[in-house]
Amino acid sequence: MDTNRLSKTLTAALNQQMTNEAQNAQIYLAYASWATDKGYDGIANFLFRHAQEERNHMMKILEYILKRGAKVVVSPIPGPGPDPTSVNDCFEKIFKSEVENTGNIYNLVNMSMDEKDWATWNFMQWFVKEQTEEETLALDLLSKIKVAGGEKAGNDALYALDTDLKDTPDDATLAQDVSADNP
Ligand code: FEO
Repeated sequence: MDTNRLSKTLTAALNQQMTNEAQNAQIYLAYASWATDKGYDGIANFLFRHAQEERNHMMKILEYILKRGAKVVVSPIPGPGPDPTSVNDCFEKIFKSEVENTGNIYNLVNMSMDEKDWATWNFMQWFVKEQTEEETLALDLLSKIKVAGGEKAGNDALYALDTDLKDTPDDATLAQDVSADNP
């Protein structure tokens, strides 16, 4: 009796996304290590924490594939690419990588809709919301570095930014959670 509830196509795509999330964790780990090396311990702390979030994303997908009775394929993780050249470059790279990941998530939503696989479509909605948060978080980073002077940010501004990021929460506030009393 076949107990597999995932199509071959969606199984392959979900396994690929599992690897994408693992690669995202490697990217944050690499950038956090770069930041530590440059003396930005607050930025590094923020990025190390985020690497864990990416591993959590990977685990959620792995668990979903298993729970639907399909086969998990653990593949080699592609490298994180070159180190950033500056804090500005680091935050720009993070934003680009999150936008790319959103595209991958939307593809999975489209595929599950095409197949009328509503269980997978429903599962992926968690990731749609999460990506909105992740992009907001990355945009916040870009706003902070812009205020600090972008590529021209001086040591004082970078020191303040570094101190600030050490205590920045892991999650961003979503528009739907805002009220007039609590903007
Ligand atoms: Fe798992 Fe940052 O997306």
